[in-house]
Amino acid sequence: MKYELPTKATRETLNIDVREVEAMLQGTAIKIPPFPEAMLTLKDGRTLYIREAKMEEVPAMLEYMERLMKVEHDFYDIVGARVYSEILGWKRKRLKDPYTLVGLIDGEWVGFANGRLMSEDINISLHTMALARGGRIGAAMYYAKAYYGFEIIGSKEWWATYESYNGWYRWGLGMAQPSYPWPDVQHELGGARVYYVTKKYWDSTVKDYVRQMVGNDLNFEVTDEVRKANETFRVPEELLV
Ligand SMILES: CC(C)(COP(=O)(O)OP(=O)(O)OC[C@H]1O[C@@H](n2cnc3c(N)ncnc32)[C@H](O)[C@@H]1OP(=O)(O)O)[C@@H](O)C(=O)NCCC(=O)NCCS
Repeated sequence: MKYELPTKATRETLNIDVREVEAMLQGTAIKIPPFPEAMLTLKDGRTLYIREAKMEEVPAMLEYMERLMKVEHDFYDIVGARVYSEILGWKRKRLKDPYTLVGLIDGEWVGFANGRLMSEDINISLHTMALARGGRIGAAMYYAKAYYGFEIIGSKEWWATYESYNGWYRWGLGMAQPSYPWPDVQHELGGARVYYVTKKYWDSTVKDYVRQMVGNDLNFEVTDEVRKANETFRVPEELLV
């Protein structure tokens, strides 16, 4: 847009360094404490190793998500497409205060969970994916990110929503999450209902979820053996969903 000037300007053209524009677009980051690596023994005895994703893993993750977004069952397509944009949003710094966790078994990428901080108090749960089925890996990944939010970041409230029956069943129902009036309050993922967990409800009840669901707790004392087994991040060769 161009308007006529209401006064004389000594410089009629301003040169802008795009680094200054970048500062405008990004805003100020909230300092988020890192997720310490964790391990969890699954029901079938396998060890799930959970850690933060690394930026150098992004190309492989995006490539795999491109394949998952073509899977036309259980909403892997819409979730895959949205997760693709969120991973890219993390890389391109177009997601406010994101965190990204990956779950590995013997180095193979089998679980994904991410979110972002809307504020110091409100944690937005974005997506969780099981990249291999039947092990309750998705249940464990979601729990790990909620644990991260409440116990490590210090969030006061957790806002989730569900695109899939499995997601709603696992956590909406599985954690007995209440929801805010809808459509008055809408989640950023498509304007769907916001299901929430407060810190009080986490402390009293939800903290026991993974023990009930998987039979074990997260263990933050990761052994050298488990660390070594997961040293090299590998995407599955085939789609396992
Ligand atoms: C939602 C999700 C993360 C849950 O993962 P999960 O906890 O590991 O559970 P699964 O979806 O693999 O399995 C759900 C149930 O169906 C069974 N199941 C489904 N597909 C299966 C398969 N291909 N092989 C074996 N079991 C299968 C599981 O054994 C499980 O039964 P259980 O409840 O008795 O344990 C996962 O379904 C997923 O990634 N879905 C696509 C993305 C998505 O919807 N994300 C959430 C957005 S709201």
